[in-house]
Amino acid sequence: MSLKVLSVVSEAVPLVKTGGLADVAGALPGALSPHGVEMTTLLPGYPAVMQAFGRARAIHSWDSLLGTPARLVSASLDDGHPLLILDAPSLYARDGGLYTDAAGRDWSDNWRRFAALGRAAADIAGGAIVKRGKPQGFDLVHAHDWQAAMAAAYLRFAPFGEGRRAPSVVTIHNMAFQGWFGQEVFSQLGLPPSAWSLDGVEYHRGVGMLKAGLASADAVTTVSPTYAREIRSEVFGMGLEGLIAARGNAVHGILNGIDTGLWNPAGDPALAARYGFRTLDKRAANKRALAAEFGLAGDEEGRGGPLLIVVTRLTWQKGMDVLLEVLDHLVGIGGRMALLGSGDAQIEQGLHAAAARHPGRIAVRIGYDEDLSHRMMGGGDAILVPSRFEPCGLTQLYGLAYGCLPVVSRTGGLADTVIDANPAALAAGCATGVQFDGVNYDGLAAALTRTVALYHQRETWERIQRNAMKCDFSWKASGKAYADLYRSLMA
Ligand code: ADP
Ligand code: GLC
Repeated sequence: MSLKVLSVVSEAVPLVKTGGLADVAGALPGALSPHGVEMTTLLPGYPAVMQAFGRARAIHSWDSLLGTPARLVSASLDDGHPLLILDAPSLYARDGGLYTDAAGRDWSDNWRRFAALGRAAADIAGGAIVKRGKPQGFDLVHAHDWQAAMAAAYLRFAPFGEGRRAPSVVTIHNMAFQGWFGQEVFSQLGLPPSAWSLDGVEYHRGVGMLKAGLASADAVTTVSPTYAREIRSEVFGMGLEGLIAARGNAVHGILNGIDTGLWNPAGDPALAARYGFRTLDKRAANKRALAAEFGLAGDEEGRGGPLLIVVTRLTWQKGMDVLLEVLDHLVGIGGRMALLGSGDAQIEQGLHAAAARHPGRIAVRIGYDEDLSHRMMGGGDAILVPSRFEPCGLTQLYGLAYGCLPVVSRTGGLADTVIDANPAALAAGCATGVQFDGVNYDGLAAALTRTVALYHQRETWERIQRNAMKCDFSWKASGKAYADLYRSLMA
């Protein structure tokens, strides 16, 4: 039997993206269709989304969705996957970021913007859309992160219609963002007083949207098995560890995959030279092009240590303050680094200062550039991901697929996806990168020293590259894991 699932999310490629959440939401429908799951994605009608699909027809409208008029637009992506777009101009039609204004401050009405998304999802799942006299409900709702988590709370406390209530799954992509708002918003959420409870939306005397979702969902998932364990602890649970522990077996860790159509070095149009694990020598042309693009010294100048890359949000989570501390060491042991990222202004400044100290060895691009990120994976020797916590992480997976060996801290999805090149793994021939403990100067500096030494053992390095490229990080296994979970909730 085919299952109809509504995926509720605040960003999805190819339409809007600030991070890995969008990659995952964009890939899920394709990952699930081989398993008899027909997934429709519900997205807010931001300007970029309305520009692409605004003229499509509305299939439903609300006079007042949490106090604002809204319409629901039905569309489909080029690959045929169905979309529902929540067109509520007072909530989403504005310049700036998806979650913040141009100055980087959270939109003050974020509680309404994303509670409305959850309310709409519960209405849609319950059969608010009527086609030829028949309500078009969904079998299950899958909500991502705090921005969609209220869908599960509405389904539980204030479902639409009288029929069977659709079960819900809430996926945590990042516990650091919890969507907490003051108590005063509660009365405007359209929830019954019973929802204001320790087991409902109440959290530290306010409204906790992620918390409400985690308490209400029939199942909770996060994006790697290790992170699923880590969030039971104080450090990683960030206040919600007790709730996670209380949900017990309802919490699952399902590893993210990558879209191997978009991320494949053998067919990547962004690369100067395409290659596979049998034609690794072709990477040299990409490395030359990358060094030239960043104004870094080339291998031929006799200073040819590894060219390390970093593609990331510049934040504390990603360990970027520690990276700044080790850059002099990296240059001292013969490394080069090309970094692409944006975020924290202080980290940006520190990076510019390091680049000025080490011309030709450290180069930095501040900004967001999807094409450049592909060229970096195709030309870099290794990708650095020194995160303090990492629910899954996608860039290390792209690195593996491209033979750009990941150098990662041992946490979350990084721990689950990279096999450290320790003597045992090297002897067994299964190493795929470098892992280290301790996101601090000593931990990262030692990992870099080890990486540079390994790089100079050319045969070993190339063997690790081939191992990495042969790994299967497609959605095959995880698509099935989600489908199995959905079916287990339908009983
Ligand atoms: P997170 O979602 O925590 O930022 P992930 O590793 O899961 O981390 O996903 C980040 C995604 O955003 C990846 O697809 C990565 O390639 C992309 N990305 C991050 N920063 C940039 C940037 N400056 N330019 C291009 N792509 C970027
Ligand atoms: C979050 C996490 C990241 C994860 C991504 C997609 O942004 O920080 O680790 O890969 O979501 O699940």
